[in-house]
Amino acid sequence: MSRFVYLNSKFIKFKDAKIHIEDRGLQFSDSVYEVVAFYNQQLIDFEFHIKRLKYSLKELKIKYFVNKDKLEKIFNKIINLNKIKNGIIYLQITRGVQQRNHAYKNNFSPNLIIYSINKKFNLPNKNFKGVNAITFNDLRWKRRDIKSVSLLANVLAKKEALNKKAYEAILIDKGKITEATASNVWIVKNNKLITHPSNTDILKGITRESVKKLIKTNKLQLIEKSFTIKQLYNADEVFITSSTNLVTPILKIDSKIINKGKIGNISLRLANLYANFYVN
Ligand code: PDD
Repeated sequence: MSRFVYLNSKFIKFKDAKIHIEDRGLQFSDSVYEVVAFYNQQLIDFEFHIKRLKYSLKELKIKYFVNKDKLEKIFNKIINLNKIKNGIIYLQITRGVQQRNHAYKNNFSPNLIIYSINKKFNLPNKNFKGVNAITFNDLRWKRRDIKSVSLLANVLAKKEALNKKAYEAILIDKGKITEATASNVWIVKNNKLITHPSNTDILKGITRESVKKLIKTNKLQLIEKSFTIKQLYNADEVFITSSTNLVTPILKIDSKIINKGKIGNISLRLANLYANFYVN
């Protein structure tokens, strides 16, 4: 079976989808993206991803008219054409092709890429698993609120995690935990949840926002405040959230075992609440 992607205005075969060597996304990472999960062919939090996409485009002054309804149809068609049940849709919009020059000319015409990837999600059933993480220096630029494809610092940190047989790298900026390479980080201490506030230092995760709503409706306590590596190591529970990881517990960070290496009650409760409410 051949796989289909959507490139600019056409559904074409995966192997035929090509981008020009002077695309600014390739040369300058002058480009934004979104990752939207789908489960049983249902998109999760589609509207919020589109809202964030518009924000990223606006912040980078990439003029591209986002037609939400049209994108939703394209996403669903990709899922159907590729006959995937569970996975992610990857969308990228670059500033387009121009002769190489740091400054872009105003008459750019963006390139749109949409395709799907199969994925097995970590759901709170009998196979629910916790993962290990390392800590790593946060080397990223100062606008992490924009979902741009400038991901080199994330790539290096994640690779280091894998080299050390860990799953994720938790990033530290001036002694404070920001987030992880592709997820937001949460700790639980004395039944209170703590996560970094959403400012330009982190990506305001869509899953983070959904979990925040669940915390509120279930009358749990949340503090949006940055925390130190010491607080991270001494947390009762640690977990990450993202469209790809949903709510995934962290059981070991560097050489420090968290919660005796067991999935904590609050992490499990939030994973269940999230799965029941958003993934069905
Ligand atoms: N990453 N922080 C960073 C740096 C991320 O890259 C992501 C998502 C998140 C979580 O955001 P959300 O809940 O909206 O998925 C936080 C995606 C999944 C990726 O790059 O693959």
